[in-house]
Amino acid sequence: MAKGRVNMGRIDRLLAEMTLEEKLGQLSMSAAEFAVTGPTSAQGIAESIRAGRAGGLLNIWGGERTRAMQRLALEESRLGIPLLIGFDVLHGHKTIFPIPLAEAATFAPLLWERTARVAAEEAACDGVNMTFAPMLDVARDPRWGRIAESPGEDPWVAARFAEAKVRGFQSSDLAAVDAIAATAKHFCAYGAVLAGRDYAPVDVSERLLREVYLPPFAAAVAAGCAAVMPGFNDVNGVPMTAHVDLLRDWLRQESGFEGVVISDYNAIAELMTQGVAVDLAEAASLALTAGVDIDMMSGAYLCGLPAALSRGLVGMDQIDLAVGRVLALKERLGLFEDPYRRGSQNALVASRRGLRRDLARDVARRAIVLLANDGVLPLARDLRKIALIGPLADAAAEMLGPWPGAGQAGDCVTIRQALTEALPEAEILYEPAVGIDDRDASGVAAALRFCRDADVVLLCLGESAHMSGEAASRAKPGLPGIQNDLARAVLALDRPVVAIIGSGRPLILPDLVEKAQATLATWFLGSEAGHAIVDVLTGAFNPVGRLPVTWPHDVGQIPINFSVRQTGRPADSGAPYASKYIDMPTEPLFPFGHGLSYSCFIVASLHAEPECFRPDDEISIAAEVSNLGPFAGEETLFLFVRDPIASVARPLLELKGVAKIALAPGESGILRFPLPARSLCFLGADLAPRFEPGEFRFFVGPSADPAHLACVTLRALSD
Ligand code: GLC
Repeated sequence: MAKGRVNMGRIDRLLAEMTLEEKLGQLSMSAAEFAVTGPTSAQGIAESIRAGRAGGLLNIWGGERTRAMQRLALEESRLGIPLLIGFDVLHGHKTIFPIPLAEAATFAPLLWERTARVAAEEAACDGVNMTFAPMLDVARDPRWGRIAESPGEDPWVAARFAEAKVRGFQSSDLAAVDAIAATAKHFCAYGAVLAGRDYAPVDVSERLLREVYLPPFAAAVAAGCAAVMPGFNDVNGVPMTAHVDLLRDWLRQESGFEGVVISDYNAIAELMTQGVAVDLAEAASLALTAGVDIDMMSGAYLCGLPAALSRGLVGMDQIDLAVGRVLALKERLGLFEDPYRRGSQNALVASRRGLRRDLARDVARRAIVLLANDGVLPLARDLRKIALIGPLADAAAEMLGPWPGAGQAGDCVTIRQALTEALPEAEILYEPAVGIDDRDASGVAAALRFCRDADVVLLCLGESAHMSGEAASRAKPGLPGIQNDLARAVLALDRPVVAIIGSGRPLILPDLVEKAQATLATWFLGSEAGHAIVDVLTGAFNPVGRLPVTWPHDVGQIPINFSVRQTGRPADSGAPYASKYIDMPTEPLFPFGHGLSYSCFIVASLHAEPECFRPDDEISIAAEVSNLGPFAGEETLFLFVRDPIASVARPLLELKGVAKIALAPGESGILRFPLPARSLCFLGADLAPRFEPGEFRFFVGPSADPAHLACVTLRALSD
């Protein structure tokens, strides 16, 4: 928990003075200006604040507007308690960074922290004091639109992401003028929704919960996150908003979380729809008993808890406990000392705009994954004619992604703008040709004419920003509309084609990757998208991005991820009776960690010690990496572990570390992966952690592709 000044005397005094309605007001957060992600927004917000029925607002920003709301609470309500002001600052506030899935592709925790720090500075400058981020849902199903908001498929990566984002948003002092409360969401296993359909039920084993879905939240709690938001989903039949075992027992008791639990938008009322509450009073009592402190938007606490009290479903002590936690958060944010401090730093933040844009460009470049390249990239410097084709070539608004924060399309640099800037001598023949998701082919003929004349075709395809994100699951996550027809027509012209794929998820791309000379995954990269993409196309930046999710051949392979247990009949056994598909490969199109460079890197050697280790030892793994040229570049290597024989079957690969090294052409260097032996503990059949003696295999390589992993074996000795 981020330590800050908590004046318990003030809290106790306020609790003693508060009416029931004022207490329930502190447990209620309403949308101030517009409903973003659910039923209609609250009406008459100013009156609610004056009456003490709104302890927090969401979806409002701007120094003047937020100060006006704080003034209403401070000067026109009976007790003058300042407001929480929350907003979804997921990947930037005004300077928009790559969507979280793209940012994860940088595998750069320091960058993850820096972008959160900048986002917090900008948001706090706009009077926001709480963000509903980081989103920490491990996601292995590209049909699920919220994979775009996630740090990808791996719990180790998600845990590092959690730590970095909590540090970035909250800084070391939550009361600082540019610190905002982080909310780890959506607790938990939301990424495992049935059939990839948003909000759908989740059935997971206790093992999967504890090995995959809970670790990122444990990391967020350990990093001191101020709040946690339960997901809309149920887990094994119990809605997360009412999940006593996970919210009270695991989150608060087992993990020691002392902060605030805030429901998702209208989620408490939706307990009735989910079939566990007959009315609002019951819904409110279930949520409060599970440990939900703040009711976002449903009105269940204000309208349902009085009846719940009179029906004996809850006690005043539970309400006071929740109110105390909310007031303690306001204390830690410094809101009682100076509620107007956030929202008044415009000059300070404006002065550093250039630095923020530079950071946005650097992170965006690093998020780009070069999926395939036959050498057409980097583009030759003497190109005369470039055909810039496709609906995402000049689409500023789409670059913001599905959670644009306070970002503006007008602030985004498109590929077309950046290409014109970077190659002023080249003739750029631009034609969108088709819409993102419509059937209008009227522009295709013009596009093909441009392509026939061009030295190279840049084919910019993909999704719109809102085809991923919340409530945007896709059963056929491929190129929308008639973009596949456009691609086939362009690829049939026998011209060099670079496919630039903008999306919030891995897309199913039949044939495109094989037929194009190069393919880039550019996700949604934010304010500096165009500059970043063109920097990679021209070689001004040597790509470093790596896939944080496995990229499937086909929907039929989903869910798909690298960390799976071995079957008794492996697909590659060659036996007729094997765990395989008879109509497609079992391997993905691209594995977790895949990403090409303009350099050629090799792992020249791999060493590990000690040969035998005990639980309290530190294992040292060292890989010698060489850059065979021709460009200077940065290599990312992954450390995986396998426990081939154990008391329960263990995954073929478990990620235990990531390291990077920058090398000039011809240069070699050593990458080290320090690994505490205790990190090899796993949950036994009884789900208790155990350290078992025996062989352990350590793999180092550029992705989860077994063909490119160097291996060394060590032996664990019992205590
Ligand atoms: C939405 C989302 C959640 C977001 C909240 C407030 O429904 O599920 O991630 O923070 O509402 O916008």
